[in-house]
Amino acid sequence: MKSVGIVGLGSYVPERVLTNFDLEKLVDTSDEWITTRTGIKERRVAAAHETTTTMAIEAAKMALADANVPPSEVDLIIVATVTPDYFFPSTACQVQHAIGASKAAAFDLLVGCTGFVYGVVTACQFVQSGGANCALVIGSETLTRIVDWSDRKTCVLFGDGAGAAVIAPVPEGRGLLGFDLGSDGSGGPLLKAGALQSCYANPLESGFSGRPTLFMNGNEVFKFAVRVMAESTLAALQKSGLTIGDVDLIFPHQANIRIIDAAARRLGVSMDKIFVNVDKYGNTSAASIPIAMDEAKRNGLLREGSVVVAVSFGAGLSWASFVMRM
Ligand code: UT7
Repeated sequence: MKSVGIVGLGSYVPERVLTNFDLEKLVDTSDEWITTRTGIKERRVAAAHETTTTMAIEAAKMALADANVPPSEVDLIIVATVTPDYFFPSTACQVQHAIGASKAAAFDLLVGCTGFVYGVVTACQFVQSGGANCALVIGSETLTRIVDWSDRKTCVLFGDGAGAAVIAPVPEGRGLLGFDLGSDGSGGPLLKAGALQSCYANPLESGFSGRPTLFMNGNEVFKFAVRVMAESTLAALQKSGLTIGDVDLIFPHQANIRIIDAAARRLGVSMDKIFVNVDKYGNTSAASIPIAMDEAKRNGLLREGSVVVAVSFGAGLSWASFVMRM
């Protein structure tokens, strides 16, 4: 089997910063509560002209420039998002047109916050099998447009942004070493946003206000997250023939510093092996891991040959992780 991995990274976040102090003016909350319970200090909010598609396009262009790959060489585009501009056309098709990837197949992937990791694993299968030569995987979200701004339990958590990775053949022994994907639909009601008005038959439960809004049972998702982050990391490492001691850097889904801390304790790794930027961006769902990986690369933390793990959890419920030698 061909060795395939990430050969370029890019990200885009909106300029507008919404701090915890700004949120104190919107809902009954405090910087102290948000910081101690989540680790988030601020998040980005898309301007009127910015959408999931426009941010995906910017992140894609940066990833292609980083990989030194022209759009004409991309033959597969996968966009992971739960906040597309349209049900159809797909975000991926709009990116394909905007960047001029004239020979690319394109589709969206809806796996909640887990979408980017699912997308990378899917793209690697295409390139490994010869079904594609070069793929773009993008996570892009405008969650601030679906949160219920009167619900302090959720509106303080989420932010907007996009991240992208170019997937292509790499030297033998590098690239994707193993992965673990999973789902448990019985937990679907714990984290959801309806797509059509008919889904909002019970306005008390959904908080329906004329547009789709996000509902979450935070406590239950928290317990699930702590468990699957550690279990999925170990499962992917086992499939890679590696142990936790071989890992140089872990990219956990950036949802809550307490979830990341708890998962690190379960794995027995120190926090200096875990990349964290949840303080700056909050939870950007499918965009959180590529934004983090791009930041790490720009800070010189993704060295040649280093072993990284990306691990995520989210709506579905779902979880996913991959192990990659850079
Ligand atoms: O990407 C996947 C998405 N999901 C997640 O990652 C979320 C996972 N869950 C979590 O991160 C946490 O469960 C939350 C951050 C959502 C909540 O933290 P918690 O420590 O589990 O708090 P809680 O829900 O148990 O609430 C504790 C108290 C409650 O007040 P009472 O009932 O004890 O009086 C809440 O009403 O904190 C209150 N509260 C707040 N207070 C100030 C809830 N939200 C806020 C807020 N500001 N924003």
